[in-house]
Amino acid sequence: MPTNAALTISAAGSSLSFSVSDGSLPVITNWGRGFGENDAGIAEQLAATDAPAIMHSSFDAPRRISIAPSQYDGWSGTPAVELAREGRAVYPRLSVASSFADASTAGFVLEDEKAQVRLQLAYSFDAAGVLSAAAEVTNLGETLLTVSSVRVLLPLPGTADEILDLTGRWSGERQPQRTPVADAARHRTARRGRTGHDSPLLTMVGRTGFGFRTGEVWGAHIAWSGNSDYLVERYSEGVGVLGSMLGGGEHLEPAEVELEPGASYTAPVVMFVWSDEGIDGLSARLHAKVRASTGYPTTERPLVLNTWEAVYFDHDLDRLLALAEVARDVGVERFVLDDGWFLRRRDDQAGLGDWSVDTSVWPDGLLPLAEGVRKLGMEFGLWFEPEMLNLNSDLVRSHPDWLLAADPVGPSWRFQYLLNLAHPDAWAYLLEEISALVAEIGIAFIKWDHNRDLHEAVDRRTGKAGVRAQTLATYALIDELRRRHPRLEIESCASGGARVDLGILPRTQRIWASDTNDAIERQRIQRWTGVLVPPELVGSHVGPKRAHTTGRELDLPFRLTTALFGHSGIEWDISGCTDDERAALTEWARTYKEYRSLIGIGRTVRADGLRHGSMLHGLVAPDGGRALYAWAQLDTSPVATSERVVLPGLTAGRPYSVVLSEPFGKASRRSIADPAWISSAPTTFDGAMLSTIGLPLPVLNPGQAVLLEVAAV
Ligand code: GLA
Repeated sequence: MPTNAALTISAAGSSLSFSVSDGSLPVITNWGRGFGENDAGIAEQLAATDAPAIMHSSFDAPRRISIAPSQYDGWSGTPAVELAREGRAVYPRLSVASSFADASTAGFVLEDEKAQVRLQLAYSFDAAGVLSAAAEVTNLGETLLTVSSVRVLLPLPGTADEILDLTGRWSGERQPQRTPVADAARHRTARRGRTGHDSPLLTMVGRTGFGFRTGEVWGAHIAWSGNSDYLVERYSEGVGVLGSMLGGGEHLEPAEVELEPGASYTAPVVMFVWSDEGIDGLSARLHAKVRASTGYPTTERPLVLNTWEAVYFDHDLDRLLALAEVARDVGVERFVLDDGWFLRRRDDQAGLGDWSVDTSVWPDGLLPLAEGVRKLGMEFGLWFEPEMLNLNSDLVRSHPDWLLAADPVGPSWRFQYLLNLAHPDAWAYLLEEISALVAEIGIAFIKWDHNRDLHEAVDRRTGKAGVRAQTLATYALIDELRRRHPRLEIESCASGGARVDLGILPRTQRIWASDTNDAIERQRIQRWTGVLVPPELVGSHVGPKRAHTTGRELDLPFRLTTALFGHSGIEWDISGCTDDERAALTEWARTYKEYRSLIGIGRTVRADGLRHGSMLHGLVAPDGGRALYAWAQLDTSPVATSERVVLPGLTAGRPYSVVLSEPFGKASRRSIADPAWISSAPTTFDGAMLSTIGLPLPVLNPGQAVLLEVAAV
């Protein structure tokens, strides 16, 4: 029996093990559960058993599928790299040129001297147990090397037989879909040039039926805002002694990446995350990762008012100052002027590209508003859509070659096209325009929008596809702006939530989850956005009674309760509010400020198995001492009673008080009286009882919610 050496890296209870033998590439023997001090011993046993049976009608050696799966390995599926040189396919036969490893990191430099290709793969666990995997291809030859794809792939056990990922649309982002793992290559390819409303967000694979709180589950996320390709792949022959492959990379357009001699292509980082505590376990690790990232905001998240649904393009200094005053009175801390302030931007058909203030509506510029807002004690924020152009703009008239589009242009989308940020002059123009406005007006916050897909994104200088270059140039522009203005915060918005990913997030301090402020839609969208993004970075606004995007009418307490679990804000002309509405908003602002420290550090928990159009979700302090839950009824229910509902995440053996709270107004019920415990003298409950068996909760009408404030006593 050949003996293979073993290598294992690990962090926070998760590990990645390799079998390493002379003369062949490393094989991943296990990714997922860590075994603590037994990791090394178990990795050796895995290495000793990593070769499958040799089958009839198959290769004459065991199919050991390497870290860079290829046809040479015997892998008939999607390979790690697809390359061509001088019109010929390159099938690399890589071997290890060098490697390194420590407790949580391993890297391999793989080379094929004949094909003149180098592939570097690096795997690194962070303290939260999220594994970042990086891949880079270098052309060691004398001629052009065409890179069609580079993917990082990890094998999963055969027991992981169900996929859960997300899809969606404008104002309906993050809709979950479950599919069995089948014998197929299941690619979720995004060719939108932006992450997309329908992004998988996190491809999760686990034992059928895994939930928020239970089940072993493996996830992959591509930290990238351009084109991408998520892959789950299985064949009858499995993956060596494992079941299927999970991973992905960037989707590249034909000939988008051609490497000159000596040049390299760096693929987007793919993040892999495992948990045996269901989806909430994945979120706990991912939230910890985001909270530790460099761009993560260092201050408490200010309460926002955004003007979009309040005034749309109807900009008027007096009206906006009056709105700012009401906003200040209810407790707003950041006032954001949305679309409509720049040259000829009286509607959505003109102006994009001309980032100077429209003096026909702002005769004295934006300073009077910005200073007025600051005098009221609030920060001033401003909307930009830097990567976009209207053909009706001075910029396009003077620089048609700056369009990132075929010639003649294809169909417009919201009357707009792309500016080619990879063009150094276009990039420098944007940088100087935005940077000057930030300094002149004192902009604390930019809402950075991106309202169309990139179709036929052709660089007019070269005729080549330019999605990758555009994505990198956008990152560089944001990085440079924040270097120049270190306190500037940026929100990633793309027609709502079409640019939510961990490529943009370390550069931005907020994401706009969706253009819908309909609180029923928002309950669902925020729940699933929260799989990846911690709530304090998810913009969450209370809108008017009748939602602009759906026409649905919802009561104020429900809208406020929904908008509380995020980076909260208002998107509503509250200058027309009644006294009662203002009082509720003021109480809500106070509650948000009371709870935002918990929102910023809490562990997101979501109850499973609620059958009746209801949802329970919450945030539990890291020490388990405090929690806030929302019990929300989204739909009517056929059930005529109140079943027990668990409050997940509390500490077993610890006593807790539970207070039902309706600070913004009473939710309407479908019952005569609530379960009796709610009105009885304060009682305490064991954390185990609350989190595993639960309490009967009020029976609410649809579109209603209450809070449960929980504290250890
Ligand atoms: C997009 C955004 C909205 C708003 C408008 C302005 O749709 O998602 O929030 O900023 O653009 O045009």
